[in-house]
This record gives sequence, C-alpha cells and structure tokens, in this order.
Amino acid sequence: MPLRIVVGLGWGDEGKGKVVDHLAAGSLAVARFSGGANAGHTVKVDGGTIVLHQVPSGMLRSGTAGFVGSGCVVDPVAMLEETRALASSGYPVGDRLRVACSAHLVHPAYKLVEEEEERARGSSAIGTTGRGIGPAYVRKFARRGIRLEDALDRHVIASMSDAILEGTAVPAGRGEALGAASEAFVDAACELSARAADIGRLVDAILEGGGDVIAEGAQGTLLDPDHGTYPYVTSGSCTASSAFQSLGIGPRPAEVAGVMKAYSTRVGGGPFPTELSCSTGEELRRKGNEYGATTGRPRRCGWLDAVLMRYSVAVNGCSWIALTLLDVLGGFPSIEVCTAYEGDLHRDLRVGRGLERCRPVYTPLPGWSADIRGERCWDALPREARRYVEFLESCCGAPVRMISTGPHRDDVIRRTP
Ligand code: IMP
Repeated sequence: MPLRIVVGLGWGDEGKGKVVDHLAAGSLAVARFSGGANAGHTVKVDGGTIVLHQVPSGMLRSGTAGFVGSGCVVDPVAMLEETRALASSGYPVGDRLRVACSAHLVHPAYKLVEEEEERARGSSAIGTTGRGIGPAYVRKFARRGIRLEDALDRHVIASMSDAILEGTAVPAGRGEALGAASEAFVDAACELSARAADIGRLVDAILEGGGDVIAEGAQGTLLDPDHGTYPYVTSGSCTASSAFQSLGIGPRPAEVAGVMKAYSTRVGGGPFPTELSCSTGEELRRKGNEYGATTGRPRRCGWLDAVLMRYSVAVNGCSWIALTLLDVLGGFPSIEVCTAYEGDLHRDLRVGRGLERCRPVYTPLPGWSADIRGERCWDALPREARRYVEFLESCCGAPVRMISTGPHRDDVIRRTP
C-alpha cells in the first residue's frame, strides 16, 4: 500500500520512532501529522542514539524527505536547533524538510500560560510536557494563532508576537527572558519560513507517481482529545483518520500500523487500570529504561491492557500491529495480560469517564528466561514468547506483523501473512 499510517495505540512512548525509521527505508517521504516538541522519538543507529522531537523520524534515511503537516504545532526555535543537532551528528536534513504553511507556531508565551494553567489545576494537573502545546491548539481553534505563513513577512509576525506579549500576564521577574525568547522566536520563524510548503500537494505528487509515503503520528490513541482518556490527553489529534486532515489529502485506502508496547506505560496524570506500584512495576521501568525522552520523567509502568489495546485497534482501523520492547519481558517467570475488567462490563468499552474505577482481570501466561535481545527470527524465539505474541493477536483483533527485540534499528522480526 503506497500510504502507510503509523500510530501509537497507548499513551505514547510505544516506540513509533524506531518503527517509522525501519519502514522508511523504502519510502520517499515521512510526513508527521500530529503533535509538536512534546514528542520524543528515539532511534538507535550506528552506535548512537538520536532523539527526534519535531523532525519526522524517517529523515535519518538520506533518501527520504520529511514533511510536517498542518495538524502539528511547531516550535521554530526548537525545530532549528534539532536540525542543527542532526547535521552535527551526521544526519543533515538539507532541503528535504518541508513544513506546512498553515502549521501553527508555538510562541514562548504559551509555555508561561501552560505553566499557570497546570499550577491552577493543583492535584488534577495533566502533567504536560511544558512545551506550550495546549495553548497553541487553543489559539489555533480560537482563530488567534500564528501560522508559518505569517513569518513570510517579518513585520507581520513581529506585530503578532508583540500582540501576544501584550495579552499575556507575565509573572514578576520573567519579562526580560520572555522578551528575549520572543525575539528569538521571530528570528527562527522567519528562517523556518524558507521551508514553508503545501504539504498536501507534495504528498499527492509522490503517491500519484507510485511512491510510498509514511504518515507518522505522535503521542498515542489514549492521549487523543476525542478518543483518549479525556481530560488527561494531549491537544492534537493522534488517530489514523486525522492523518488525512493534517496532511491535506483526501481519504483513501491506507495501511494502518498500530504500534503497541509489550507492556503499558504512561507519563503524566490520568487513569491507568493496569499500573503496578510495586517492585514488578519498578523492574519494568528499569529493564525498559522507562524515562521520558522529552522530559526525563520516570514513566508509570504496568502489564499490557488488552481491553484498551483492542479499543485502540478498532478506533484506528489497524491493518496490523508492530509490537515493541518484547525483549524487556524476558526473565519474568509469569506475564499478566489484562483481558477484562471486573464485572466484565467493559470488554468493548469506549474510553470515557469511569476508567479510573475499572479493576483489571488478568490472564497469566508463562514467561521465558532466554535473552531475546536483538533476535531477528520468529522461529528462534522461545515458545512462550511466541505464545505471548499469538495471545495478544487474538485479544487485540489484529495480526502482529513486526516485533522489535532491541534498540538497534535492525533488531526487528518481520512476519508475513
Ligand atoms: P502535552 O502534550 O504536553 O500537552 O501533555 C499532555 C499529556 O500528554 C501529558 O500527560 C503528557 O505527559 C502526555 N504526552 C505528550 N506527549 C507525549 C509523548 O510524546 N509521549 C508520552 N506522553 C506524552
């Protein structure tokens, strides 16, 4: 299928970066369709670790172009820093990176606004990444935002930036730093405007010419503002159908790959039925190195929730699943999978209020002791690991066609139908 959409099935951090990087080997372009600098997509390549935040993951492949869709919110200062860091690591993006003219920009004042909103929420704080994402989407939909195209004329964006500063309640002692950050914002936005493009036209041209495009999501289905665990969600749409809207192309047949971690993690607040606040949760965190790629925060960990994963597979219309971090489960004598909630009321739930009251019912499966890190052959996996994968396929309602067994870009098992 020429168009492949890659989405997270959980609360983000499923390992989408690695999956996209792997699939990008044969693709002409990777087009990011959601989020902004809140994302952290990690790819291990040539002995080094690259964390991408706004630059599409597939751009580490030198022949692949990177597009950023209109549904993303772009921090121009961070974006330029990221491209410079990539160039100094040996991965220059050159003129392969293009950003939608209509993508909204994250002004530094938005981070202050967000800080204040989080403080006001007290114990119900969302636990955001602090990158100004929520306020950027608020201004977009309130029709008061700044778009990349506004930076094509320096006078226009400078006066818009001034208006935002005038309308922001700046805490004492922060005015000077904000003024300097706003100047840097205007400079960076003007520089970035050289990359402004009509992304829909670029994607259509590649698809019409018979080339492959990957639409890369950010965050995950359970953080989607419509279909996730509202209000503990992000502010940009994360599900497969939003790829068309963000990139500015019409709906058409596409292969949808849902990326699912072999266990569950979450950062920030909100319900998490299978969270383990015991030594097993700590062991998952330690073995999986579960610390945020953007903020460094320790992630909350727990067993895989097949009730929620089945829901996410349905919401996205997944063609197949990419299962990541399977190697982390090696050494657990028994592995639990949540297959229902108590009372069995929620087998086919739509995620909404009340999830925090759901108590998981687990099905235990035998673990395996062998270290499968880096394994690239399905038949070489321990019988128990294969059984675990097949069990997840039957619970979640989609085949597992790709398994990641280690951090390196080629630590992958591909399964064909
Ligand atoms: P925001 O996107 O910074 O507004 O944060 C809203 C929620 O989404 C918080 O719980 C964040 O921790 C979470 N979040 C945002 N981006 C990511 C991500 O890339 N991975 C995991 N969680 C994320």
